[in-house]
Amino acid sequence: MAKFTTFHCTSLASFIITLSMLNPSFAATTTTTYNVISFGAKPNGVTDSTKAFLNAWSAACASPTATVIQVPKGRYLLQPLTFQGNCKSPDISFQIDGTIVAPADYRILGRVDDWIGFEGVSGVSIIGGAIDGNGPALWDCKAKGKDCPSGATALRFSDSSKIKIDGLKVINSQMFHIAINRCQDVVLQGVKIIAAGNSPNTDGIHVQLSRNVAFINSSVQTGDDCVSIGPGTKNLWIERITCGPGHGISIGSLAKDLEEEGVQNVTVTKAIFIGAENGFRIKSWARPSKGFVQGVQFIDAIMQNVQNPIIVDQKYCPRNDNCPGQTSGVKISDVLYKNIRGTSASRVAINFQCSSTNPCTGIRLEDVKLTYMNKPAQSSCVNANGKSFGMVEPNGCL
Ligand SMILES: *[C@@H]1O[C@H](CO)[C@@H](O)[C@H](O)[C@H]1NC(C)=O
Ligand SMILES: *[C@@H]1O[C@H](CO)[C@@H](O)[C@H](O)[C@H]1NC(C)=O
Repeated sequence: MAKFTTFHCTSLASFIITLSMLNPSFAATTTTTYNVISFGAKPNGVTDSTKAFLNAWSAACASPTATVIQVPKGRYLLQPLTFQGNCKSPDISFQIDGTIVAPADYRILGRVDDWIGFEGVSGVSIIGGAIDGNGPALWDCKAKGKDCPSGATALRFSDSSKIKIDGLKVINSQMFHIAINRCQDVVLQGVKIIAAGNSPNTDGIHVQLSRNVAFINSSVQTGDDCVSIGPGTKNLWIERITCGPGHGISIGSLAKDLEEEGVQNVTVTKAIFIGAENGFRIKSWARPSKGFVQGVQFIDAIMQNVQNPIIVDQKYCPRNDNCPGQTSGVKISDVLYKNIRGTSASRVAINFQCSSTNPCTGIRLEDVKLTYMNKPAQSSCVNANGKSFGMVEPNGCL
């Protein structure tokens, strides 16, 4: 019986391949594989493999079929590069078994914005593998207060759609690890991001001007935000994420500019924060802005020793930069905090510092229990309107 089934499938597969050879409109049912090694990539970690990767991409991109770009075991040195879209292939999948490494000299990445960029692509997946941004030398330079370049984001998708990242590890980026900019329909799952807890500006995932993005089953340990959510983010779903060390999940900073798109419909569910600076933060500059935050749900979270488990900070004004004496123009409304438990590392576990000209509305606290050193914690509300439901400790100041 098993034998018969196998035989049947094989003949069906070859039938499809035969059809696709006869009729190009069936071509998408086949997959063409390109191995970066056969384009000249060297898995030794020191030979520059940039051209080989770009040539493999060009071949895949020009193929009318679905394609796989194979990156076998080993370490591949890549200079800054961009994979450009407008591809014929409807589906390009990087299958990575190896590690992609940044140049040893941090100045090479330091002077560009992005190390590995994808621009205007559709139907691209990155499956497995690791990306090593070689960031510590730049972090050291910054820590010594020397004149250092600002650094590159390790992996950025811009103006792209139907993107999947599955099982990728990204370590030691100079700056942000993964950025999603002006994209839609993006799924990141089983992603692991690791950088030192004191590394500067090493956000895990940054999303902006994008819609329908999901970030699932992943962990982020860095020196900055676990996830940073910028203006123009709509329909963002975050589920089963572990954050810390780092600065937690942050909507903002917003109100950097007057003309700014809002953040709408963000859900974070089943997140765990371990030793993070913040849990759920919404942060805006104390500046005029047309931006807003509308429809956010923070559900089923565990906080372990988190400095600010729940915080809204609309008074952000570092270095007194164009904001002293001003208030934030960002309107925050309909934010739910439900079933959030654990320990705060500071006395004030719930802290709403909303704008005096645009108070927060529709804040809802439901079944929240946060303690501080085995005692009840405190809450603080300024310009915050809403309601508490069920058991809320520290008791809502709403
Ligand atoms: C996430 O992990 C859970 C538990 O390990 C698993 O049941 C679920 O299928 C995973 N989801 C995805 C989308 O990988
Ligand atoms: C909110 O976003 C989720 C995905 O995160 C989506 O399923 C849902 O339809 C969106 N809701 C609205 C009202 O757009």
